[in-house]
Amino acid sequence: MKIFVPPIKSQGIKTKLVEWISSNVKETSYDRWVEPFMGTGVVAFNVRPKKALLCDSNPHLINFYKAIQNNEVTSGIVKNFLNQEGQKLLESEGKHYYVVRERFNEFGNPLDFLFLSRSCFNGMMRFNKKGGFNVPFCKKPNRFAQALVTKITNQVENISQIIELGDYEFKHQDFNQTLLELKSSDFVYSDPPYIGRHVDYFDSWSEEEEIILNKGLVNSKCKFILSTWLSNKYRTNDYVFSVWEECFVATKEHFYHVGGKETNRNAVYEALLSNIKLKDSISNSEMKSRIKNDKSQLTTKPKNYDLPIQLTLTLEESRFANNVYKK
Ligand SMILES: C[S@@+](CC[C@H](N)C(=O)[O-])C[C@H]1O[C@@H](n2cnc3c(N)ncnc32)[C@H](O)[C@@H]1O
Repeated sequence: MKIFVPPIKSQGIKTKLVEWISSNVKETSYDRWVEPFMGTGVVAFNVRPKKALLCDSNPHLINFYKAIQNNEVTSGIVKNFLNQEGQKLLESEGKHYYVVRERFNEFGNPLDFLFLSRSCFNGMMRFNKKGGFNVPFCKKPNRFAQALVTKITNQVENISQIIELGDYEFKHQDFNQTLLELKSSDFVYSDPPYIGRHVDYFDSWSEEEEIILNKGLVNSKCKFILSTWLSNKYRTNDYVFSVWEECFVATKEHFYHVGGKETNRNAVYEALLSNIKLKDSISNSEMKSRIKNDKSQLTTKPKNYDLPIQLTLTLEESRFANNVYKK
């Protein structure tokens, strides 16, 4: 499957899970695809439903995609803008990044948002208490060299075409409002922030909100999938077995890097929870029993990593089973 990567970056982006999610919903019928937490939109843009309602509490994400939809932002405009601003970045030895950041925090222009997303440190998205973008510069004055500008321009072009071909509505709103707008014939892909992970102005999450989300989804009678994590080497996500107790569980292993070093890899089991049986899901009670009996938590085929990584993963699994679950 060819994955269309959106031009906007964020730490919670599900690019690596898109194929898995897509394959799990391929056979399912629905009238409208709904995402209360669209983020970068990578999931919807790759599932490519005919009709979609895509929402987020972060106004900048919604403004950006609305601007693409009404042709205020096109690939041509992006190319010119990034060439021009990229040149200023280079000439100012990087200082121009902070000029754009200040300008963006005052006026919220979608092109400035794109510029910051692609030249900030590690492609992070983080806002301070006043809602101001506060990620520092990636410290590469020549960031917008031709190859990157072409890549971003192509990403904008692809996403514009996907949006143009679909019947998509983008809304800046809280998930509570999106829950109120659900119809039972909708399919909801829900990817809320993880509880207690990154907390910023547009992106914090509590147990209370997790419960409200669960109740809203269940009461809507829609089919739904929720993205979350099942476990890492230190702990298990207990909400899977409490708040989401009625859901089927599918899991996939995923490595993430700590501090950017190859050696600092940690494994996490990503989970899809759903009120319908997915291609590779098992029941919640079966997953619970697997964990209790130290059996594998993987419901999909393990990936073939090179040997050292595979050994680390196996070691982590057995250490985890022996030390953590047998408490
Ligand atoms: C994990 S990210 C979604 C990532 C997305 N699936 C992707 O692949 O890019 C969670 C999103 O939820 C949004 N969000 C946080 N709190 C929200 C709320 N109360 N209502 C609606 N959206 C919210 C954040 O702005 C963020 O974009």
